Amino acid sequence: MSGFRRIVVSGASRGLGAAMARRLSGPGVSLLLLGRDGAALARVATACAEAGATAETFAADLAAEREAIAARILAFDDEAPCDAVIANAGLAFGTAPDGTPESWRQSALQAEVNLIGAMAVAGPLLPRFAARRAGAVLLVASVAAFRGPVDTPGYAASKAGLRVWGEALRAALSPSGVRVTVACPGFFESRMSAAWRGPRPLLMPADRAAELILRGFRRGAARVDVPLALALLLRLLDLLPPALGDRALRLFRTRIAPP
Ligand SMILES: NC(=O)c1ccc[n+]([C@@H]2O[C@H](COP(=O)([O-])OP(=O)(O)OC[C@H]3O[C@@H](n4cnc5c(N)ncnc54)[C@H](OP(=O)(O)O)[C@@H]3O)[C@@H](O)[C@H]2O)c1
Repeated sequence: MSGFRRIVVSGASRGLGAAMARRLSGPGVSLLLLGRDGAALARVATACAEAGATAETFAADLAAEREAIAARILAFDDEAPCDAVIANAGLAFGTAPDGTPESWRQSALQAEVNLIGAMAVAGPLLPRFAARRAGAVLLVASVAAFRGPVDTPGYAASKAGLRVWGEALRAALSPSGVRVTVACPGFFESRMSAAWRGPRPLLMPADRAAELILRGFRRGAARVDVPLALALLLRLLDLLPPALGDRALRLFRTRIAPP
């Protein structure tokens, strides 16, 4: 049991989001699971129900249907007040900085889903949480938010934006009793990371990442970096003279196979 009773989870159809939804489940817990793949969401909802939770699903695209998603989240909160929202949905392309129309399109889509999509999931509940002086927000960014890998500049930019947005929200909302946790995970096993071609240091199972991130979220941590060693390494790179940091990043190339 999480301590949370009524929770919205985006990107819940697989990977980390599905693992977190299952781990949050238990008697007395209600979940709203978001994603595009309705059949996959239904399978996760069944697993949550087997653990004693009630799980509703809403299949919609965060790049194209943000207003409908926000309305569904507010309707869920109208039925009974939510106490937590998890903005986890994300996608990754290996957008090299080559300036082609395709690379621009991919960078824009990553920003739309990973950053604006997260705002659309968490944002509608923020004024309600502040009015109630209660509520917890978890934003799933990435270690790429600290220092962008050379082969994924668009992805890194979307995650850096999400991290900074979350940190500003946290500073603004903590006096109102709203907790904001920014998670910056490294590599864990999922469909997304299976497409990465290159080293995946300290790779962990998605369920282990879910366990560690939720542990921090439950205790109201401001920041959850897992594994800490990888996050510290990338933060350290940012403190080096830029040419040295750039050289280190070039040694550590990761390509992403087309979806
Ligand atoms: N895997 C890693 O090593 C790693 C490392 C650092 C950070 N992260 C971050 O962790 C989060 C979860 O990643 P994951 O590895 O679990 O990825 P995943 O297995 O690929 O799952 C991504 C989830 O996001 C949803 N999603 C993607 N595009 C969407 C869209 N346009 N509209 C609505 N939902 C959409 C997917 O649902 P549908 O397909 O059903 O739409 C799916 O549920 C992401 O934000 C990712 O950037 C992952």
